[in-house]
Amino acid sequence: MPTIVFASPKGGAGKSTSAVVLASELALRGAEVTLIDADPNRPVSRWAARPGCPSTLTVLADVTESSIIDEIEAAAARVPFVIVDLEGTASMTVAYAISRADLVIVPTQGSQLDAAEAVKAIRLIRQQERAFGRRIPYAVLLTRTSSAIRPRILQHIREELARNEVPVLDSQMHEREAFRAIFSFGGVLQGLGSDQVSGVEGAIKNAQAVTAEVVSLLKGSAEAAKAVA
Ligand SMILES: Nc1ncnc2c1ncn2[C@@H]1O[C@H](COP(=O)(O)OP(=O)(O)OP(=O)(O)O)[C@@H](O)[C@H]1O
Ligand SMILES: [Mg+2]
Repeated sequence: MPTIVFASPKGGAGKSTSAVVLASELALRGAEVTLIDADPNRPVSRWAARPGCPSTLTVLADVTESSIIDEIEAAAARVPFVIVDLEGTASMTVAYAISRADLVIVPTQGSQLDAAEAVKAIRLIRQQERAFGRRIPYAVLLTRTSSAIRPRILQHIREELARNEVPVLDSQMHEREAFRAIFSFGGVLQGLGSDQVSGVEGAIKNAQAVTAEVVSLLKGSAEAAKAVA
């Protein structure tokens, strides 16, 4: 079943935040989700240790270079969604996870420097495609963008990525306090009280839009794979 890998060599690009938000949304829709924490800093495991993690979401920690492929394959045989959070560096663990992905999401903040780091992640995906002789779908997810304004630099980055035929998700992970708050309080966006953090409703809508787009991308690539089979 689909494996979604969050990868970017850029530290702080929004991988763990986006992975937890996507995994939680899918789990709240009733799907069994395994979230693999392959970052030695274990941000996802620390989040899951707090209260409020959905019962349909299982977090696997202590996944290393030598175990990641087995862990992904075993989880993919068990549950409908496997999501992998990786450390912000280039490593064998990252390369192995990408080699098993049905979709690689490359979170990228809206600056030229960040876009350059995203290109590194995309190069690695293309190398893995050649090494394993299969297509690995991927898309850039813009993170920490403003929900109110559309800066011209972001438009410029989008156009540049489009010119280089790099797919970019239409929905973005906006800069929202609620996305930070789940790591402090634990649990899901839907469990945050308005006394704890503002703008929860907007964050939930944002998370749902990103999730819907990811699910439709997965469906699209499964159909594309069948069509060329
Ligand atoms: N959409 C968002 N809104 C608000 N804050 C965000 C958002 N995405 C990420 N952050 C914040 O940015 C910081 C980095 O995010 P995160 O840890 O998700 O990045 P990462 O790519 O997983 O980093 P690393 O490479 O270190 O694992 C964190 O403090 C997080 O709370
Ligand atoms: Mg992280």
